Amino acid sequence: MSVKEIFETMSYGPAPEQAGDALAWIVDRGARFGHFIDGAFTEPGEGFESRNPATGEVLATLTQATSSDVAAAVDAARLAQPEWEALGGKGRARYLYALARLLQKHARLFAVLETLDNGKPIREARDIDVPLAQRHFYYHAGLAQLMEQELPGRAALGVCGQVIPWNFPLLMLAWKVAPALAMGNTVVLKPAEWTSLTALCFADICQQAGLPKGVVNIVTGDGAVGEMVVNAEVDKVAFTGSTEVGRKIREASAGRGIALSLELGGKSPFIVFEDADIDSAIEGVVDAIWFNGGQVCCAGSRLLVQEGIAEDFHTRLKARMATLRVGDPLDKCIDVGAIVDPAQKARIAALVDASGGEVFRAGDAPAGCFYPPTLISGLSPADPLMQEEVFGPVLVSTTFRTPAEAVQLANNTRYGLAASVWSENINTALDVAPKLVSGIVWVNGSNMMDAAAGFGGVRESGWGREGGWEGARSYTRVVDDMPALTTVEGFAGEKVEPVAVDRTAKMYIGGKQARPDGGYAKAVYGADGSLIGQAPIANRKDIRNAVEAARGAAGWAGATAHNRAQVLYYLGENLSARADEFAVLIDRMTGGTGGRAEVEAAVDRLFTYAAWCDKFEGAVKPVPGRVVAMALNEPCGVIGALCPDEAPLLGLVSVMAPIIAMGNRAVLVASEPFPMAALEFIQVLETSDVPGGVVNILTGSHAELAKPLATHMDLDCVWSFSSTDLAAEIERGAAGVLKRTWVDGLARDWLTTQGEGRVFLDAATEVKTVWVPYGA
Ligand code: NAI
Repeated sequence: MSVKEIFETMSYGPAPEQAGDALAWIVDRGARFGHFIDGAFTEPGEGFESRNPATGEVLATLTQATSSDVAAAVDAARLAQPEWEALGGKGRARYLYALARLLQKHARLFAVLETLDNGKPIREARDIDVPLAQRHFYYHAGLAQLMEQELPGRAALGVCGQVIPWNFPLLMLAWKVAPALAMGNTVVLKPAEWTSLTALCFADICQQAGLPKGVVNIVTGDGAVGEMVVNAEVDKVAFTGSTEVGRKIREASAGRGIALSLELGGKSPFIVFEDADIDSAIEGVVDAIWFNGGQVCCAGSRLLVQEGIAEDFHTRLKARMATLRVGDPLDKCIDVGAIVDPAQKARIAALVDASGGEVFRAGDAPAGCFYPPTLISGLSPADPLMQEEVFGPVLVSTTFRTPAEAVQLANNTRYGLAASVWSENINTALDVAPKLVSGIVWVNGSNMMDAAAGFGGVRESGWGREGGWEGARSYTRVVDDMPALTTVEGFAGEKVEPVAVDRTAKMYIGGKQARPDGGYAKAVYGADGSLIGQAPIANRKDIRNAVEAARGAAGWAGATAHNRAQVLYYLGENLSARADEFAVLIDRMTGGTGGRAEVEAAVDRLFTYAAWCDKFEGAVKPVPGRVVAMALNEPCGVIGALCPDEAPLLGLVSVMAPIIAMGNRAVLVASEPFPMAALEFIQVLETSDVPGGVVNILTGSHAELAKPLATHMDLDCVWSFSSTDLAAEIERGAAGVLKRTWVDGLARDWLTTQGEGRVFLDAATEVKTVWVPYGA
């Protein structure tokens, strides 16, 4: 090519990155790898090949872990954990800092190895994956340093099983390993079978850092090994990957009393309003969907453009697509590299071929495991490609007219990971951001991430946050030796005393007293065998009605925190006015003498959460760059809860108050053996300005109502404090739509701080991180 031609075409010349050092690192290790267990590499065993997707060449042979390998890794982690935790935050911080430094020192080796193994452009591995992985270790060295001071009363969970995907192999390792180690846990990590090399290189770094043996263990293999890790004796499972596997993991871990965090798929909307800076938004699209070839869980894969600019926008987007360079990932001028594996390429192609939409491509991809940037329009909102995660460089596009329609279309998905909003009008952007059902919102940007900011989703994108204090907290537990719950039984009796005017207790649904659908009631007797009353027996239809009513009361989430506080204070006031009556009823039902104390504590609790309403603050995260990252505590939505059996009034109030204080609506199933206090409490609700549907109260069998609650498609979370052991039933049932659950089976003393506070508020909220870049 002549200088004149170069000048005229402005074409890039090749700028290859040298792969020599990374290949030498592989060869030095015999190109065969075992696992990293108890501080040492095991002998390579039977396994599989790891290939460079860009060339198809075999890079190395990896070992498929057996069940005894996984057991050995878990044993090593278990043995190492107490000493690692006992080092203290400051002691652990030094190791995390050393790991960060070593990652930095070997940055180029990691970046090239990642590109060879995964096929992502070297520019991305070098400038994003590896620096962010370092940043995670630096940041979490800091969290370890401050743990004792900032997280008093919290301790490590123990051994964490971590299963990660192939799209950001080293970065996902950092997201998992750094917080776990910082908080005093040890780990058994399974990298994805297509991309394990940087994890094994990280094992090298652990040795160089002198990390105590057994603190980090890495086992390689496919999904079967992932399953073994999930089923092992671990205290937490942390998973990133597909929603399908996430659901299996939820089922497999149900009822085992272990912590779980799931970071799953997405179909994130990218919304462009008429008043957006169109050229910036076009670059935003490039970053949203062609970064890492669209193999990104938070990829902005659904483009929504306001009608007035749609034609212009698409014309400019197509022109920009023509300039994208697809090819050798080791070339520094490449925008889109290889797809991770021919199997993934085939999956992408199959989804696109079946789409039925209008397909635009500005050019072909090179031969091999490459797929060209693709834009598809003309689909209807329900078409599979508008709903399914493609995990490839494929963008679907549609238009909208009004902000309300944009929000409706954006939320029309089972996922809820991220969303991107483009408008030069701050009012529009900040009006729309809170209405989007997602864990992350980027205003005029996309794919912004940092260790200080929480990352994670809602709905079928999973739950839990990675990054920030919120991520670290999920690797800890409250140190409070609460015993396991034991079953609380009611009393039997026969004595029937005539009453002057019969009062039939009813349930409370949508702000009205409601008879049970089934038409059955259960006699409730006092400790002395006397009949106290009849409690309705709710069935799954009553649950359905209550959830529908709660859904309809969505306005509560929009009430100001001050207003919610006023309602809670009013509840406290009205309960206090009837304290004597409730005290007598509680004592009669339970046969105890603690009724008075229970009522007083319930009034206090209402006042406490009234106070919390406008004080459970979010945060502004100090992320690098000219951007404000706001962590907002948003309500989860509708929360269903089986209330504690042992504290008929205080238990109900302790569960209800944090739920509604944070702007959620509640479907509460009262204490099973002692339901009458909850039914009396309905009158307090009725006289306290609680809008209809915000609190719904049912009575009946916890065992029978657990399943309809857990499997209900329109409930966002289920909590259970029932003394009936329903953990497995609830957690398994919740796997369907992946709703958040809280079932710890612990016996709380509801009269003390065990029954209130931040743990409840955390459970009643989702952290949404809204990123707003700035600059004049
Ligand atoms: P995957 O979810 O099967 O794999 C992720 C990790 O889970 C891998 O380490 C795998 O070995 C492991 N795994 C597989 N089955 C398991 C099981 N039953 N128990 C425990 N661990 C198990 O993802 P896959 O098949 O590689 O990709 C399929 C689709 O999933 C992609 O097309 C994409 O749509 C989605 N995906 C989403 C990711 C995300 O970050 N949200 C990451 C990877 C894939």
